[in-house]
Amino acid sequence: MGRVVYKSLPDMKKARDRKEKPLTIKEDIRLSNTIKEFAKGKTYSIVTFGCQANVRDEEILSGYLELAGFKKENESTKADLVILNTCAVRENAEEKVYGEIGRYKAIASKNKDFILAICGCMMQEEGMAKKIMGSYPYVKLIFGTHNVHKILDLLEEKIERKKDIVDIFSFQGDIIENLPSTRLDKYKAFVNITYGCDKFCTYCIVPYTRGRERSRAKEDIIAECRELVKEGYQEITLLGQNVNSYGKDFHDGTSFATILEEVAKLGIPRLRFMTSHPWDFNDDMIEVIAKYPNIMKCIHLPVQSGSTSMLRRMGRRYSREEYLSLVERIRKAMPDVAITTDIIVGFPNETEEEFQDTLSLCEIVKYDAAFTFIYSPRNGTPAARMVDNVDDATKHRRFDELLKVIEAGVVYHADQMIGKTYQVLVDGPSKKDKDVLSGYTENGKLVHFNGPSYLKGKMVKVEILESHAFSMMGRLLDDPILVLASHAAKLLEKEDAVIRYKKYKEDFDNDESIKALLTEIENKQREMVKLAAKEDNQEALKAKKEYDELMEKYLNHPVVINLNSATDELEPLLLEVEGILS
Ligand code: 5AD
Ligand code: SF4
Repeated sequence: MGRVVYKSLPDMKKARDRKEKPLTIKEDIRLSNTIKEFAKGKTYSIVTFGCQANVRDEEILSGYLELAGFKKENESTKADLVILNTCAVRENAEEKVYGEIGRYKAIASKNKDFILAICGCMMQEEGMAKKIMGSYPYVKLIFGTHNVHKILDLLEEKIERKKDIVDIFSFQGDIIENLPSTRLDKYKAFVNITYGCDKFCTYCIVPYTRGRERSRAKEDIIAECRELVKEGYQEITLLGQNVNSYGKDFHDGTSFATILEEVAKLGIPRLRFMTSHPWDFNDDMIEVIAKYPNIMKCIHLPVQSGSTSMLRRMGRRYSREEYLSLVERIRKAMPDVAITTDIIVGFPNETEEEFQDTLSLCEIVKYDAAFTFIYSPRNGTPAARMVDNVDDATKHRRFDELLKVIEAGVVYHADQMIGKTYQVLVDGPSKKDKDVLSGYTENGKLVHFNGPSYLKGKMVKVEILESHAFSMMGRLLDDPILVLASHAAKLLEKEDAVIRYKKYKEDFDNDESIKALLTEIENKQREMVKLAAKEDNQEALKAKKEYDELMEKYLNHPVVINLNSATDELEPLLLEVEGILS
């Protein structure tokens, strides 16, 4: 048998099948001794490419790895376990991954225990896993987008079988709940509401790599968002390949407008969503967005092309006129809304007239920002089989022309903001200058302004002074001390956490079995010190083992678990208040 065990491989034909109802599976996390032993003292690092769906997968993978005992290492070349979380949307995303894999060759050859794993959309492509395993023998584990929650089982299998493992499947996909997660940001959170995509735009590989469009149960989304509000998060982004088709699979009248409104009512200071499809964007949604001040007035509305014939070839389901009418209705309800988009240039056989239609649509809409891409054929998609008669030079010329038109729109909107006041959520000191803070306005514009770094994560008022197209310069209008004082006051209201802590501490102090365990642990420690002094290695090892067992018993005692979780909840809060007061 070879070095690699191919448990299952993806199949793009199977990925197209959409028949059964997706299952919701409540994860029951099991931590085996093998994985706990393996993780002891080890670090992990995840390198993520691509979109927010991948960022959220990174948070879930981190959640599992940290539960097992791995510690996060920010510099990936220093970690014991590296996971490359890949994107397949365009060829250049894949080229970056190949470059990244190469960085670990020397590390793998020096350290036999080093594990390089690869997951994400690129692994869902037919033939990819075999190609990578063949070209990079130091890749130890490959899995896909459907089994992120199996990370610990896969690692365990890799360790126990002493083989490299590939396990990727193509199917409609399930909905997994009770997932552990370590969020990357303390103030801004992503919450998945739909998974996968059923639209099958002819150029796009996502429906094949992420499975059928399926909506999470409303109660699960609300519970997650409620928890985030409680934890002090300032911004939630509802995520999905097509967020606004949310609920269609329930067939009970639930829609994206329903869930958006319910989350907005939870009191999160800022709520946004990504990405919406123009075809599913209805007037109920517009009404809800306009009604709630905490729903950010910035809408990402990918158009892809401004030509009806091209949109038809792309399988987008709307015409130029329908898109323009939607923009008009959105702007009528919210005159200050920022609209951003995605556009593809160079789709097979794009005529000059079709391209001019895209330019003219951009001139009419005047986007606040746009992500522009040159079409990249993706194997297995219908567009990849189309014969293209447009040469590369023409595509690049069109791309440059489009950028100019987009920039004019961006500058137009940025100039309109000068002299106005906006709410800004402070991200922290700017990358270039630590005395300058940066953050985003409620309409999604980046602003820089002078202010103290302790305003990170707080909402402040900023007046816009200058526009530099893609970012603004502003002036802080709030008194920073007052912002802090009101934040501290809010934190101190968290009585329930204090009550919980008091109760669990009392349980801990009065528990006889804990007292006995602590005495045993103390005695064992004394014994270990004595044995170390006598240099009796055999006995010292035995005592250490007994000590570890006692500690494990102690840490797994329900009373200790309760107290530790209450401490984990209260400690950061108290440290934050102390920081604020000092
Ligand atoms: N080529 C170029 N751009 C693509 N996108 C999706 N697939 C392709 C492709 N094959 C773009 C679309 C989409 C964004 C996330 O990526 O504009 O909205
Ligand atoms: Fe891709 Fe179209 Fe689905 Fe967006 S809507 S993920 S572009 S197939």
